[in-house]
Amino acid sequence: MVAAVGGLLVVGRGHIGRLIRTIDQRAGVFAPRGAGRYNAVAPAILRPLYRRVAEDVVTEPGLAALPEISAVLEIGSGPGELAIEIARRLPGREVVGIDLAEAMIERAVELARTAGLDERVRFELADAAALPLPEASFDVVVSTLSLHHWSDPAAVFAEAGRVLRPGGVALIYDLRPFAYTRRELEVFLAGGPFGGAPVERGHFASGFLAAFFVRIRLVRPSRA
Ligand SMILES: C[S@@+](CC[C@H](N)C(=O)[O-])C[C@H]1O[C@@H](n2cnc3c(N)ncnc32)[C@H](O)[C@@H]1O
Repeated sequence: MVAAVGGLLVVGRGHIGRLIRTIDQRAGVFAPRGAGRYNAVAPAILRPLYRRVAEDVVTEPGLAALPEISAVLEIGSGPGELAIEIARRLPGREVVGIDLAEAMIERAVELARTAGLDERVRFELADAAALPLPEASFDVVVSTLSLHHWSDPAAVFAEAGRVLRPGGVALIYDLRPFAYTRRELEVFLAGGPFGGAPVERGHFASGFLAAFFVRIRLVRPSRA
């Protein structure tokens, strides 16, 4: 059943995916009303995704070469639940979430405060295409369901690579019908900090999550 629904969604990729991306990128759906509606419904439905992604982050094999994960950046952090999930699995480490929508940031800040994690989980209003963050300051960049909203994906990937330490990993998850193809991703990444590194784009997890979501994994090349 889950596989059948997933199959239908794959058929929707292409034209429908492009149309939805265009609407999302232009409509500003996360202005206050949109954010309120999203936050009332999505976090409860998406909790299994947040948990699985947080697990992916802390068990990411590519990070074995780094001394430890010391800081994680979430792009398009929305309601803030994923950043909190990750922080719970990485005691003492810093997690930063950035989002374009003020209403999302307000909700996420409140969540971190309620969880007693506001000393090391912070949320900032920012455009992922121009991150107000220092170069090479994160070990992991993670993002869920945000990629299809980015109006300039190449700029966001360039910024994600810039703030990652060499050897750091970007894990980007998106809905299967809206996800870019490997070829489109290669075009966005060309000439950027991930330059020439293989683009891993594929399944993750199983069941419901595998049917609906795609994972893109990029490693920032280590300096020679
Ligand atoms: C569908 S929501 C996903 C939120 C959260 N990651 C989740 O999985 O529930 C997409 C989020 O990406 C944010 N977003 C879109 N474009 C962005 C950009 N260029 N920079 C930062 N955030 C962006 C939106 O404001 C919105 O909060």
